[in-house]
Amino acid sequence: MIEPKRSTASRPASAGQRPEWWREGVVYQVYPRSFADSDGNGVGDLQGIVDRLDYLGSDGLGIDAIWLSPIYPSPGLDVGYDVSDHERVDPLLGTEADFDRLIDEAHRRGIRIVLDLVMNHTSDQHRWFEASREARVGPYADWYLWRDPAGIDELGNRIPPNNWVSFFGGSAWEWEPRREQFYLHTFLPQQPDLNWRNPEVEAAQYRMVRRWLERGVDGFRLDVFNVFLKHPELLANPVVEGATAWARQVHLNDRDQPDFAALLERFRAVVDEYPDRFTVGELFDAGPDRAAMLTTDRHLVFDWEMVIAPWSASAFAAFLDRREAAFGDERWPTLVLSNHDQPRHASRLARSAGTDDVDAVAKAAAVLLLALRGTTFLYYGEEIGMVDVPIPPDEIVDPPARLANPDFPWWNRDQCRTPMQWSPAPGAGFTTGRPWIRIADDAARRNVEVERRDPASVFATYQRLLRARRAHPALHRGTFARIALDSEEVLAWTRIADDELLLVLLNFGTDERPVTIPGDLAGGDISWRPIAGTHLDPRVPDAEGAILLRGFEGVILYRG
Ligand code: NOJ
Repeated sequence: MIEPKRSTASRPASAGQRPEWWREGVVYQVYPRSFADSDGNGVGDLQGIVDRLDYLGSDGLGIDAIWLSPIYPSPGLDVGYDVSDHERVDPLLGTEADFDRLIDEAHRRGIRIVLDLVMNHTSDQHRWFEASREARVGPYADWYLWRDPAGIDELGNRIPPNNWVSFFGGSAWEWEPRREQFYLHTFLPQQPDLNWRNPEVEAAQYRMVRRWLERGVDGFRLDVFNVFLKHPELLANPVVEGATAWARQVHLNDRDQPDFAALLERFRAVVDEYPDRFTVGELFDAGPDRAAMLTTDRHLVFDWEMVIAPWSASAFAAFLDRREAAFGDERWPTLVLSNHDQPRHASRLARSAGTDDVDAVAKAAAVLLLALRGTTFLYYGEEIGMVDVPIPPDEIVDPPARLANPDFPWWNRDQCRTPMQWSPAPGAGFTTGRPWIRIADDAARRNVEVERRDPASVFATYQRLLRARRAHPALHRGTFARIALDSEEVLAWTRIADDELLLVLLNFGTDERPVTIPGDLAGGDISWRPIAGTHLDPRVPDAEGAILLRGFEGVILYRG
């Protein structure tokens, strides 16, 4: 086994000055296979990311950290989320030296690197599982969740140990003839769940975490973290009415166990052995209340309401009120509209808004992402307004999409995982070879090269908003309060830090909307100055606080 290099790279320049960089900063998710292919084999790689760091750094887009979707060796059945060795780099993506260079080069530019840790399950080709499935005795025998059948049915089939179902369809139990037992898999049968109640498993996970921290990694995104612990006796879930097998159960015993908060503390204590590191947990199948419960001053949580909210000022107002009530002032939320599992938000929200003007919606949505309260997570390509790409059935890669049936409806996640569109060149500047997944038809006109030249593009809008967010404390760390207005189409809120007061107005409608800023924020000697927005020539309120916003216009105003 090659010993990983201990990182000698200096910490990013802003460390120290911004001790809580992860609260104030912006994290950019890279799906490594689809970002940039440096060797022409059609698959993105680590060197490709190194080559694009200047694009992401302060002279380009201006993000603070990169979250890499899994980079570990994987048979690829869940496209990287089935990990066969958590401590190594997938040769498909590069070498161990490429990874160390990525850390060094990113740090040199003040960019942090956040890894995706898949700790709920492994690939069935992980050496732990290969040993565990062999026999009921041995050092790894109890590392996964093995159980005897609950009995034999009238047809002579073995009955699984309980009624749990897999999120990817069918029973959550798979028979292993070698052990003559079932094992649990919350996802694919090739992704067996680890037994976190075995202290040796927990210790092994922390050894792995420390190795990456030693190599200079700045933090982790935890895949489906609230599923690590199951009920100690694996009790059946209560059954309810529902449209799908998953919805017909209350997921009481297969996730969200009361002792999970203590486990999270133990994990975070390991991370805190290293200064300045960041963690965020992916909340699986739960809402803002659970997200708030698991958010601490050292750990953030993704919740999904913002990802599924329709494009309407009232829906966002209701979601924000619910979230702020659950989080209070002291807990820090996350802001996310797209990721590698969901439809791209430019497509989803434009559809919801009933418009073909994808760019207008993408720019307006950027105001939400960069001016609400919370840590912002961007998904590669959203900064150029990338849209979902229809994938013909015979090209589908996403495994659950191939298993879909009426009782297991599934969206094809390939649609949001297509190659980054860098230029109008063949291969979109992503690859000189044959891409592993098809490139969007609009790549010749929607790409970084073209948008960087256009001050009115989605890219230029993100860049302006990111600069404003960095420059204004109220935007990156201020308090949040929603303001009621005389229009149902316009969402308004303030952000306040120190003596800085900002007012943000966002018109969700396609048409012009006149709004009046309420009395306590307008009139007298109060004057508002725009600092950034969706348009190059933002509208400004008059002396009485009246402002006419264009369709999908968002503006951030500074009180002078
Ligand atoms: C959540 C990840 O985001 C998703 O891509 C993956 O399929 C599941 N976890 C299972 O690992």
